[in-house]
Amino acid sequence: MQTVSQTLAGHRSIRAFTPATIPQAVIDEVLHEAITGTSSSGNLNSYAVVLTRDPQRRQRLYELHGEQDFILQAPLLMTFCADWYRVREWLRLRGARDNFGHLLGYHVAAFDAMLLSQSVSLAFEARGYGLCYLGTTLNAMPDISAFLELLDTCVPVTTMAVGVPAEDPSKRDRLPLAAYVHDERYQAPPKMNWPSCTGTARKVAGPGTWRPRRSRPSVTRAQSRRWRSFIPAPTSTIRMSSGRSRTDCWNS
Ligand SMILES: Cc1cc2nc3c(=O)[nH]c(=O)nc-3n(C[C@H](O)[C@H](O)[C@H](O)COP(=O)(O)O)c2cc1C
Repeated sequence: MQTVSQTLAGHRSIRAFTPATIPQAVIDEVLHEAITGTSSSGNLNSYAVVLTRDPQRRQRLYELHGEQDFILQAPLLMTFCADWYRVREWLRLRGARDNFGHLLGYHVAAFDAMLLSQSVSLAFEARGYGLCYLGTTLNAMPDISAFLELLDTCVPVTTMAVGVPAEDPSKRDRLPLAAYVHDERYQAPPKMNWPSCTGTARKVAGPGTWRPRRSRPSVTRAQSRRWRSFIPAPTSTIRMSSGRSRTDCWNS
């Protein structure tokens, strides 16, 4: 089994799989590690994972996911869902206020599901399996929900095709750290360097050539203060439909 660092260093999305299936014991182990090893908002774990292995059912998901070929090869498709069902039922049974039936509640559950998916990804990759996310889940949400017979309070947010790799692609590059990481204050990349943010330009320019420039601000402090006066003052907490603050909700 690889360490976390080795796994991250070796990560590549895999889009070709051998016919080998994944033993149930491995799937169980990976899910157990991921569920118990991933933080979740308020420990509510508001997600559900639907496994699809049946070839005919995979064929239908292949169609719903825009016919990406590797979906038919992968022995396992995992659909990660934002799932409030348990939490909201629990609140209802206890006669407690339901603070999750709105957009913020959706985000809480969707983020939990996405975090879980990335832990599952790491756990599979550490064991030598390969996978590729399917963002097409968002394009076909209603159809995928109907096909997987999800309840109204459960929506699919991402899918992963998993299997034994039948390809060994090279690692896809990223921009240098400085493009994503900001020290104390956000710094927009200088306009003249925009083209070098694209993969094509990077191939020409080579990696590591993109550098944020410490430019003089193009607006004066006085201008900036005047503009800011038009923006409503930020509130320190997010007010929810129930009238309680986000912090109240997180702590209850
Ligand atoms: C949320 C999400 C959705 C993605 N959807 C797709 C997809 O539908 N099809 C696909 O081939 N790759 C998909 N990918 C894989 C990305 O294209 C890939 O991670 C990216 O190009 C970087 O390559 P790497 O993972 O090999 O480093 C998705 C990745 C993420 C995180």
